[in-house]
Amino acid sequence: MTPLGIGLIGAGRMGAFHIESWERIEDARLIAVADPDEQTARQRIARRPIDWHADYRHLLERPDVDAVCICAPSEQHAPIALDAIAAGMHVLVEKPIATALEDGLRMTSAARLAGVKLMVGHVERFNPAVGKLAELIARGSIGRVFRAHATRVGPLPARIRDTGVAIDLATHDLDIMQFVLGLDITSIYAQGSRCVHPTQEDMIACLLRFGDSGPWGLLDVNWLTPEKRRELTVIGEGGMLSASYLTQDVWLTESTGTPTGWSELARVRGDAEGAAVRFALGRVEPLQAELEAFARCVLDDTPEPVSAQEGCRALAAALAVRDSAAHSRPVTLLDTPMRRVDDLPPVPVAA
Ligand SMILES: NC(=O)c1ccc[n+]([C@@H]2O[C@H](COP(=O)([O-])OP(=O)(O)OC[C@H]3O[C@@H](n4cnc5c(N)ncnc54)[C@H](O)[C@@H]3O)[C@@H](O)[C@H]2O)c1
Repeated sequence: MTPLGIGLIGAGRMGAFHIESWERIEDARLIAVADPDEQTARQRIARRPIDWHADYRHLLERPDVDAVCICAPSEQHAPIALDAIAAGMHVLVEKPIATALEDGLRMTSAARLAGVKLMVGHVERFNPAVGKLAELIARGSIGRVFRAHATRVGPLPARIRDTGVAIDLATHDLDIMQFVLGLDITSIYAQGSRCVHPTQEDMIACLLRFGDSGPWGLLDVNWLTPEKRRELTVIGEGGMLSASYLTQDVWLTESTGTPTGWSELARVRGDAEGAAVRFALGRVEPLQAELEAFARCVLDDTPEPVSAQEGCRALAAALAVRDSAAHSRPVTLLDTPMRRVDDLPPVPVAA
């Protein structure tokens, strides 16, 4: 079988990870990289047999490229993706799908009409800790869910200039929280500040509501904390699930009113605490799993594991977080992009 021909657009920090990961994927071959910065692109390519193009449009003209990964700055995702779709390419676009919702919806509709795949690189979906959390919640292991709390904090990445923490960081958690809870966000109240970034907000604290009177969500994102923390905790009537994205660990701490039977310990603890279990999960490199899943959905013509609609849903929530923080007011997400995208005409069936 001829391997799937891949083109990479944008060879910066994320592009470098893509170059390394594609090397380990069977049934696909990275053929060409496009980046106007020749020195960076050639450094990333190193001694690999991969061509370089200054202009991504030349990459899109190649008959040996079937699909592209877009790792250019977020503001350029939409124009590049629309050109790639018009050229008949399947597209994996890094998160966020775009920086304006209209662009994300336009990309979704264009891909549907062209009959090509458009997947969004929400890489945390491929973190085994997230999969386990979703499975345990769906299985009812903590019963009715009361609250989810996401933390994504760390130092300022100096190279990111076009977006703040709402679009760059919070999109991850807004997607994952909706995914693991199986509910859309309906309202958002955020506060934020620009503390050290020259132009963008770099700290946001946010309160979310899921579904109609569903669980609450707390979201803490910033580029100010001097160490990286990426965690998600979900509390329900049966206990608490905690996931660390970095170590890929998941713990279940059971809620229990059961007395310990040891009165001294019970006094020290106060109210009874539940037993905790750590799940033994096989470690996975999430980006490699994401790229494999993208190649498979193209080769097998199956639905994208993270759809453009889901990318738009996460972007709509991130824009609402930014808007809420900017104006110190609650924002309601009633007209979700999911519904608007579903109103689009279906892809015409090939004759
Ligand atoms: N999934 C994740 O966890 C994750 C992590 C980091 C970044 N990202 C996303 O990846 C994207 C890139 O981020 P980064 O950190 O690699 O940025 P970066 O600045 O390191 O790299 C961007 C690269 O794109 C190139 N570029 C600019 N315009 C271009 C064009 N028109 N055609 C081709 N190349 C172009 C630049 O020269 C640069 O080399 C962003 O959208 C970001 O949100 C995702």
